[in-house]
Amino acid sequence: MASEAINDGADARRVSHDTLRRDLVDRLRDGRTDMAAAPMEIPRAEYVDPARHAREREAFRRIPILACLSNDIPNPGDKLLFDALGPEILVLRDGEGVARAFLNICPHRAARVVTTCDDRKRMTCRFHGWTFDLEGTLIGLPGKEGFAGLDRAEHGLIAVPIAEWAGMIFVRGDPDGGPIDVAAHLGDFADELRHLELDKARPARHSRVESRTNWKYAWDTYCESYHFATLHATTVAPRLVSNVMAMTPFGRHARMGFPRKDWRALADQPEAAWPANDYGGNYFIFPNINMNVSAGPNGEMFYGFYHLYPGEEPGHTVTRMATYRPGHADGPQPDSDWADLHDFIEGVVVTEDYSVSEEGYRNLLHAPRDFRSILGANEILVQKWHDDWNAQLAELGLVEG
Ligand code: FES
Ligand SMILES: [Fe+2]
Repeated sequence: MASEAINDGADARRVSHDTLRRDLVDRLRDGRTDMAAAPMEIPRAEYVDPARHAREREAFRRIPILACLSNDIPNPGDKLLFDALGPEILVLRDGEGVARAFLNICPHRAARVVTTCDDRKRMTCRFHGWTFDLEGTLIGLPGKEGFAGLDRAEHGLIAVPIAEWAGMIFVRGDPDGGPIDVAAHLGDFADELRHLELDKARPARHSRVESRTNWKYAWDTYCESYHFATLHATTVAPRLVSNVMAMTPFGRHARMGFPRKDWRALADQPEAAWPANDYGGNYFIFPNINMNVSAGPNGEMFYGFYHLYPGEEPGHTVTRMATYRPGHADGPQPDSDWADLHDFIEGVVVTEDYSVSEEGYRNLLHAPRDFRSILGANEILVQKWHDDWNAQLAELGLVEG
């Protein structure tokens, strides 16, 4: 019936969010969190060893990595740069609306071709002026008599694999790495992501943070709530319960929920009496993306993306943060609420999570060689992620299995 037309995205989203909340309220009621079988140890070398770091960078070059959402480059000529898979990668939308990705390396003498992300249809290298179209073809070079015999068709930008799916754009940093099979990469997680309708999300703010820590040390902080009451005593802990987690694995990806404190009151009420739910939890897209699906203090439903990358050395991490306004968050609130929320979260991450990560990394660097960090059974997603990452490295032949 037309009056009961179902919006698949909205209904699937509601069911999924409500299921997560029910699971979390159950855990609050029973006073339990999801647990791994036992504590787990991580040798310090996994965080500080330069050879290990080089292998991890190589893995990042070879596996599909989420670059951005479709609406970060909605129109022909729109561009986005990121610098964490090896050489900087340029993602753009061509004249036909197709997303493309290239190494941002000039085929003349390797200068960066794009240095600012405008929406122009031509890209001119600032060094000697070689010019490329949005397909990466070399369409002009000053002083061409100096390059007699040069085959222009052979000297375009170097393309890398890219795939756009359900509002998400994945790239692979290795030009010879073969096409990206998003369905295979996401597996069952695809359904969980599809109903978020990321193709309708609009960017509110982006930022980039560099930190002096290992990327895995920083990453681990996103994967557990054991630290909320202590490290985030005045920022996160007033709203969220510490050390109660519901984790659902989807292959190497996962979804994790952290209950709100005011849900304790729901434990004694029938679910039919519970208020509308704006919480979807944290989506961990392997290997380096955490997406927070929740609502801010003014009720603004948001998608917060935190992309972490291994930097130039083991003690260098790059984080790209992006906050989006979902398509269904279409009320009268100004976009500035989402931008403000972005700044607040970035402030908490940098001054609390990353400050402890930088200090902890320095300690690991100088700790006794046989020092091992311990992950509790309660730190279940941190454990899972380290297992999966080691399995990924072994699969690529980068470490012993
Ligand atoms: S390096 Fe780009 S034109 Fe020379
Ligand atoms: Fe934290």
